[in-house]
Amino acid sequence: MSDERPRILSGIQPTGVGSHLGNYLGAVKRWVSLQDGYDAFYFIPDLHAITVPHDPAALRRRTLEAVAELMAVGLDPKRATLFVQSHVPEHAQLGWVLGCITGFGEASRMTQFKDKAARDDLGTATVGLFSYPILQAADILLYGADEVPVGSDQSQHVELTRDLAQRFNSRFGPTFTVPKPTVMAETARIADLQDPAKKMSKSLPPAGTVLVMDAPATTRRKIMRAVTDTGSEVRAADDKPGVTNLLGILSALTATPVAALEEQFAGSGYGDFKRAVADAVAAELEPVQERYAALLADPAFLGDVLADGADRARSVARETLARAFDAVGFLPPAGAARW
Ligand code: TYM
Repeated sequence: MSDERPRILSGIQPTGVGSHLGNYLGAVKRWVSLQDGYDAFYFIPDLHAITVPHDPAALRRRTLEAVAELMAVGLDPKRATLFVQSHVPEHAQLGWVLGCITGFGEASRMTQFKDKAARDDLGTATVGLFSYPILQAADILLYGADEVPVGSDQSQHVELTRDLAQRFNSRFGPTFTVPKPTVMAETARIADLQDPAKKMSKSLPPAGTVLVMDAPATTRRKIMRAVTDTGSEVRAADDKPGVTNLLGILSALTATPVAALEEQFAGSGYGDFKRAVADAVAAELEPVQERYAALLADPAFLGDVLADGADRARSVARETLARAFDAVGFLPPAGAARW
């Protein structure tokens, strides 16, 4: 069955304790809105999740929870292909090949690696963490993705993917689609509530991070305690990173331009404004949490969804891997038409 729609692919890590408002607004909600106009492949990168120390039982649980969460937000596995990375061995296989055309210096320049490695110190960072962006390139290239909807923190990885695809194609012949860089501009970056200079992230203290699965009272408390800036004006500006961030969140949740919100809150203090943000977040997340609980109560159903997703993903990935293996000169296994 041929599908004329452009293909997109994106992934979200299963680690930590659930999605936060940053990847919810910056990614997951956007994924849902793209599932009809595009031939969409969405996956949980569990191979990537073990590049930092992890607990196996938690990873297993979190992977299933992440799938339930995506579906609770509105991702429909009948309309998009939803799968877990380790169910498709071609990711690791292509990752190896791409690693062999990536320069050591080129990989060393990846800022996400530098940040994470610096947080621990280089001595404890793994080779897996170092080669993480190369595996990400394999994720993207296996599916011939035309576009990769990600937040701005991932754009360097998409750039590397483009470089590797072009390099491979010119060295071994046309094999891969070179994806377009796609950064989702409006909510490209949601900042931490306590330290708006940093992007919201599961690896920062919980007070600055709103989790999709946080209890409503917790969410409200975190937003009411978000750092604001001097003055009392509700206005987006470089010297008002805290207020600007909250405006961005409210704008994304209510589909209202920031300028209109500034007008709406002209004259009201930070307190009223924060209450409005907290209300909007609660109204958004409550139904998601209800659907999530119902889905998680049926792990057999989630397992069936993933089995079907893996079949669909593999049928595409296998073709691309065979082309890449052939292009680099691997001998096809005897007795089989290809790998
Ligand atoms: P991850 O799991 O860190 O984030 C998933 C998506 O959420 C976006 N995001 C944010 N957007 C706005 N504000 C924030 N504070 C914020 N934090 C995260 C990310 O940009 C991302 O789009 N390496 C990837 C996972 C991955 C992947 C892939 C993505 C693996 N292979 C192939 C795309 C294609 C990651 O760690 O995302």
